[in-house]
Amino acid sequence: DGQALAEIYAFAVQLGKDAGDMLMAAARRRMDGSGESSTTVSYVEKENSVDIVTKTDNEVEHFIRTSVEAKYPDHGFLGEESYSAGASRTYLVDDRPTWIVDPLDGTVNFTHLFPMFCVSIAFAVKGEPVIGVINAPFLNQSFSSCAGRGAWLNGTQRLPLIRNPVPPMPRNAPSACTFSCEWGKDRRDIPDGNMTRKVESFVNMASERSGRGGKGGMVHGVRSLGSATLDLAYTAMGSLDIWWEGGCWEWDVAAGFAILQEAGGLVTTANPPDDPDTADIPRAHLGGRLYLAIRPAGPSDKETGRE
Ligand code: IPD
Repeated sequence: DGQALAEIYAFAVQLGKDAGDMLMAAARRRMDGSGESSTTVSYVEKENSVDIVTKTDNEVEHFIRTSVEAKYPDHGFLGEESYSAGASRTYLVDDRPTWIVDPLDGTVNFTHLFPMFCVSIAFAVKGEPVIGVINAPFLNQSFSSCAGRGAWLNGTQRLPLIRNPVPPMPRNAPSACTFSCEWGKDRRDIPDGNMTRKVESFVNMASERSGRGGKGGMVHGVRSLGSATLDLAYTAMGSLDIWWEGGCWEWDVAAGFAILQEAGGLVTTANPPDDPDTADIPRAHLGGRLYLAIRPAGPSDKETGRE
């Protein structure tokens, strides 16, 4: 019910804050030389050289998992690091109330002290993420949402931040958009072909129409932040217009889904229908591999009928 959800929301926000503090403390120890070396951090490679886990990932996940288990022993828990021990790629979230957690999204960024890293905590009911908390401590940005209560930056600014300044999106060309995509971890294998070609075709879609001095307009910017979670948060802000990625897992996207949907944006899977990995997934919005997210519509979009 509503009150129980409100309590879970408050608990999730506090967990996000504490976990963000842990991430930042680890980052600071590296900056002042009191922890691991200031230029390197030890990590273990999982599937390949970009699929890595640090001590911090494990410590923060342990903190979140034990906190959740103590407070809500009946809830399910799906965390990136608890899961990764060689399990196969199937649909992971059942109908139970479940916490879906990435203790450190943007692990590669963290190891390089590139500021785009965060903790991502979602609470899902019947497979649907209804609470999302994302805390990026290096950026002092914390995002949160609870179904029916809006999506927020730092608890005070309602999302989307950008309501109307961006030009409306034309129906069939992503001109004047900010487009973000991630390169993922397995760069050879996405269900629908080669990653570089996919991105190229997206970027060219608008520019080919425009040509030099043409009217179609080009994609304004292509970004790759290194954190799928923050891509979704920035799409919810309205700062990114479109995000696309192949190869995500539930914990990469669940909190961002909750926040973006609550902000009024759209998120969908873009799995090819014949992809054996995703064929039996009961819900379109979680447990996919290819994702597409679109920012909340501003009033100008409504006027031009983009919706
Ligand atoms: C990864 C990041 C990256 C995305 C990968 C994710 P991690 O998560 O979000 O940007 O391309 O698909 O797995 O390993 O840093 O938690």
